[in-house]
Amino acid sequence: MTDHVATQVKQEIRTAASKRRTFAIISHPDAGKTTLTEKLLLYSGMVRTAGMVGARKSGKLATSDWMEMEQERGISITASAMQFGYKGAVINVLDTPGHQDFCEDTYRTLTAADSAIMVIDAAKGVETQTRKLFEVCRLRQIPVLTFINKMDLPGRAPLDLMAEVEEVLGIHASAINWPIGSGRDFLGVVNRETRHVLLYTKTASAGAAKPDLTELLLDDPSVKRRVPDYVWEELTHDLELLEIAGNPFSKDEFQNGKVTPVFFGSALTNFGVEAFFDAFVELAPSARGRFADLPNGDERLIDPVETPFSAYVFKLQANMNPRHRDSTAFMRVCSGKFDRDMVVTHHRTKSEVRLSRPHSMVAKDRHTVDVAYPGDVIGIINTGVFQIGDTISVANGFNYKPLPQFQPEVFARVRPTDTTMRKSFDKGIEQLAKEGTIQILRSMDGLEFFVAAVGKLQFDVLEFRLQSEYRVKTIVDMLPYESSAWLVGDVETFKPPSDALVVKDSQDRAVVLFRSAWSKNFARERNPQHDFKDMG
Ligand code: G4P
Repeated sequence: MTDHVATQVKQEIRTAASKRRTFAIISHPDAGKTTLTEKLLLYSGMVRTAGMVGARKSGKLATSDWMEMEQERGISITASAMQFGYKGAVINVLDTPGHQDFCEDTYRTLTAADSAIMVIDAAKGVETQTRKLFEVCRLRQIPVLTFINKMDLPGRAPLDLMAEVEEVLGIHASAINWPIGSGRDFLGVVNRETRHVLLYTKTASAGAAKPDLTELLLDDPSVKRRVPDYVWEELTHDLELLEIAGNPFSKDEFQNGKVTPVFFGSALTNFGVEAFFDAFVELAPSARGRFADLPNGDERLIDPVETPFSAYVFKLQANMNPRHRDSTAFMRVCSGKFDRDMVVTHHRTKSEVRLSRPHSMVAKDRHTVDVAYPGDVIGIINTGVFQIGDTISVANGFNYKPLPQFQPEVFARVRPTDTTMRKSFDKGIEQLAKEGTIQILRSMDGLEFFVAAVGKLQFDVLEFRLQSEYRVKTIVDMLPYESSAWLVGDVETFKPPSDALVVKDSQDRAVVLFRSAWSKNFARERNPQHDFKDMG
């Protein structure tokens, strides 16, 4: 490549990367994640009426309708990310699985995001799952924007909610806009800095289309005339208080994870939604570089533009499509430009792989991706080459940081109800372990299977997927252990407490399952020659 062409390509990558907004929505179930995603599609012009994503989620919309819509509108969907344009930006919404409980997959997917939107239900405040997911964002220094949703329903006082975000999550919260009224009297939002007021009128379409909107300045006397007296008083009181006691906002502090900008609105009625998306595009970071380990033990930030193509696998999924019985490895492009059929180095196996069947959508058909840029997600058919956390690149010489592993907290014994199905059972369980749904443990004699996971939900997923994809019905017996640790030292001389169990993991390392912290301490005292290493 001549210098001139190389410079041109870098410029192309720089422009593309600066337009990317790759994010995930974190929330407790029912806070409004699906509704907000749907409104993003509505406001980006991707759909004319909202309701499609919800219908798709609930199975009311046939896949073919969805595909038709995609083709018509140029949305591209992988099972992992949805890409479309919004006011000059290229939006990649990462799909954090819609399970009703906490899941490791979501955590890994978050590593591929450059920012997150935290949706909070105004009546419920910060709920458990939101807290857990926020913690992951904090650990990974992912900047978080907060959208306080359902302001059209009776909820808690906005100042209370701000205080709760700060106290429960331990982050500064800075309100960018403030609600004008709430519940039935939720009439609009005011931008605190510009004092720009958006007053909405409910439309008959109940959120399927954009609401009627009047834009005014707060000092315009007609604003006061348009809202009930008590709403005006509350608003001026709150705004004054925020001026005195509120946290200042700075884009840098937000991007460094020190402060979360807070927005109020109602995803269902669209009040405050467009203003939020506009602010999101303006504030959220573009494709950021990722840290990688170097062979000499140092770490380096891999520049998205200067480093040629590199990516890492953050998710594996098998059997997404009954017509293509194979597995897909989802990768986040971290640097450079991806071209179809590219030959790259697979760092772990030190081999060359041709990325020949990249696709951006998995439903009935696959759409081939020709190019991708930092921040994008590509799906590559995996014939067993890729594992979660693998780095691939054309430059070599570094490895992206390993993905977080989680300490299992629930354990079970699983077996097929029909012993003749053993082969399918083994195959299925191994595949699901590869995808990271569960970890497999075996009894020391290798005859019994145990599974370990972070939450009970993974066992439900396991049961469901073994049945639907491998036609194996299983019995899952929960075990009374609550923690596990690798045994450091000779397993032969280890004297376990009577209520503990020694098993081995997929790499034949000895693992001890404990019923309580007390039991673990007891084991430690009884075995001074041994030690325990966390599996997380
Ligand atoms: P999730 O993906 O976070 O689980 O939540 P989802 O968007 O599916 O929303 C959960 C429920 O809350 C839905 O009602 C949805 O319509 C409602 N909802 C979301 N945002 C708002 C809002 O701003 N105001 C009000 N009033 N409701 C909101 P549902 O009855 O469970 O489902 P549906 O039949 O309406 O689809």
